[in-house]
Amino acid sequence: MATREELNKLLTETGQGTPMGDLFRRYWLPALLSWELPEPDCPPVRVKLLSERLLAFRDTKGRLGLIDEQCAHRCASLFYGRNEESGIRCAFHGWKYDVNGNCTEIPSEPGNIELLKEMKLKAYPLIDRGGVLWAYLGPPELKPALPEFEFAMVGQKQRFISKRIQECNYLQAMEGGIDSCHVGFLHSGSVETDPLSVSAVKGNEYTLKDHEVRFEVVPSDGGLLIGARRKADGGNFYWRITQWVMPCFTQIPPRGENPQRGHFWVPMDDENCWAWNYDYHPIRDLTEKELEAMQDGCGVHTELLPGTFIPVRNQRNDYMVDRAAQKANITFSGITGVANQDCAMQESIGPISDHTKEHLVATDKGIVMARQRLRSAVEAMKKGITPPGVDPASHRVRSVAIVLPPGVPFAEAVKDGLTAEEGKPLVTV
Ligand code: FES
Ligand SMILES: [Fe+2]
Repeated sequence: MATREELNKLLTETGQGTPMGDLFRRYWLPALLSWELPEPDCPPVRVKLLSERLLAFRDTKGRLGLIDEQCAHRCASLFYGRNEESGIRCAFHGWKYDVNGNCTEIPSEPGNIELLKEMKLKAYPLIDRGGVLWAYLGPPELKPALPEFEFAMVGQKQRFISKRIQECNYLQAMEGGIDSCHVGFLHSGSVETDPLSVSAVKGNEYTLKDHEVRFEVVPSDGGLLIGARRKADGGNFYWRITQWVMPCFTQIPPRGENPQRGHFWVPMDDENCWAWNYDYHPIRDLTEKELEAMQDGCGVHTELLPGTFIPVRNQRNDYMVDRAAQKANITFSGITGVANQDCAMQESIGPISDHTKEHLVATDKGIVMARQRLRSAVEAMKKGITPPGVDPASHRVRSVAIVLPPGVPFAEAVKDGLTAEEGKPLVTV
């Protein structure tokens, strides 16, 4: 039997050769926004994923490459290299590599074919789909079919995607994404005023009024359905059903007429993660007003320091907490912005949450079950079983917000609303 410390390690470490690292390496993961590599021979981009230092570039022919960031010669960063004539040339002594990581030139050793062959860098597939460049860091023979999350399949005008760096382990960040209970506390003062939440008058009212949230969690093909129940009018219940698709995709239940939204929580290394944020509407383009709000950092998005993915409000400035606004109950936390509020709580736990210090209660049921599913997928993988969430069929999901009479099991009542289908409206209150 593993100790709690061992389980903690198992769940949070994703470097090469770790069990959870092996699990993450079975999926296509979002690596970059498509606009980060806009054209052939554009500047390369550094990207850290699962504790691996990588470099992404688009070569002269427009092909995408994701290779070791460090040159095979004396390990200088290829980020400073010249992207030219179908390869990246190290700025130090001119060694050159193609998108497949092959060393194609060593200027000081012309004609030394054997040396060229030996100097191959690691290279991973990188593909462009739905505004995102997706990377696969796993064994080539197990590479799955391409991802089919709905936000990536709808028209370009129907979605908005952003990302930010979050300075904590992916797991505690993701657990915030499947914990509907905090909304009525942490986000109160913001859900009523955020331009991307305001239209959900009734849903917001139920969320803010009933703090005794009851959770029902059921397994889905790809992960979990996490149902959070609050009291509604006339003895009915307001259900918010969050989707979690393994290993790190979360989808927040919609609010009113707003777009569907959610996150990916991708490990950079064990103490940092990429918080990916998406909004999309399955049946209409996003409005000018919505796009403006998203670009301004409302909803799941964040205002970033210019030219970076670092939030303006971050742990170095205590997220610019406004104690007067907190005291006056303008916002519950005194921190501006829903995403900044989440980030503050998740980062304040510390770089890697120590589960041995936690005291979990009934509202943490989703988190407990997610940890269990991750662990059992790791175990099953050792026996050759493909983990949940690898099959693209399990990506075609939606979240739901609905009012149901008492005694109705949510997963049955809204079965149709939980699957993505072209042209089908969202189920939302
Ligand atoms: S370190 Fe790159 S060529 Fe020498
Ligand atoms: Fe939140």
